[in-house]
Amino acid sequence: MTIEESAPPGVDISHPSVARVYDHMLGGKDNFAVDRQAGEMALQITPDGPAAARVNRLFLRRVVRHLVEEAGIRQFLDLGSGLPTQGNVHEIAHQFDPTARVIYVDHDPMVLAHSQALLTDTETTAVVQADVREPAELLAHPEVRRFIDFDEPVGLLLMAILHHVGDDEDPAGIAATFRKSLASGSYLAISHFHNPGAEHPEAAAKAVEVERVFNQTMGTGRWRTRAEILSYFGDFTLLAPGVVPLAEWRPEGTIDSGQTDTYYTFVGGLARKP
Ligand SMILES: C[S@@+](CC[C@H](N)C(=O)[O-])C[C@H]1O[C@@H](n2cnc3c(N)ncnc32)[C@H](O)[C@@H]1O
Repeated sequence: MTIEESAPPGVDISHPSVARVYDHMLGGKDNFAVDRQAGEMALQITPDGPAAARVNRLFLRRVVRHLVEEAGIRQFLDLGSGLPTQGNVHEIAHQFDPTARVIYVDHDPMVLAHSQALLTDTETTAVVQADVREPAELLAHPEVRRFIDFDEPVGLLLMAILHHVGDDEDPAGIAATFRKSLASGSYLAISHFHNPGAEHPEAAAKAVEVERVFNQTMGTGRWRTRAEILSYFGDFTLLAPGVVPLAEWRPEGTIDSGQTDTYYTFVGGLARKP
């Protein structure tokens, strides 16, 4: 049976999906020809897309590890969680505390189907299909309420998701609603496509070009300014080193040379609610 024939019900294989294109970048198998074509178009502009996706997953890993090991976070809300891959949030968290609870949220039906198949420990992990652009509904979802105690600190992960929320869909308002729902001592992690502007003009030009391709193929993707990305953290206190290229956020090994196409165009940070 080909992957096309095994598409779960409700999955549209005539248009690329963000989750499946990203899966292709990560070398996964949960994608279709239409996704691979969209991915290849972006790779013509930024050939190191797969490396960028891996760097993002490593950033996620370091953040979750820090939150469980150093910050004592025991419950995670992973929004726009993506298709299961190597090093899912619950797998990282459970290396340090097997009782940590993780709820995955994504609007893509393929993510729901594949995550449900993977998640066997229903005590500590769950997956919900919901849209981050409707934060009040998402936060009121019974499964989210069952899993997350909003009176206790939460690790809220907005990894590579807000750049798929258009300017006209109020990403700042959405981020603010999620921040407000969290108890003091909670953390917010964000990774986001970045347009570095005059600081790195070559990277900025590529950001504009690849943004055009993303919108043409997937109808989404915004490379935002540093100020815009910083605003999503609101009044939370950013942990050092702040919002930086992903590879520079508390690296565990030596930092890459910095010369890749996407080095300055994918940034992230972690902040704590006072
Ligand atoms: C690039 S992937 C990132 C996956 C994972 N967070 C990571 O950083 O590795 C973005 C994910 O966000 C999901 N997504 C995009 N827009 C969404 C929305 N409005 N509501 C919920 N999920 C969304 C996509 O389906 C996709 O799985």
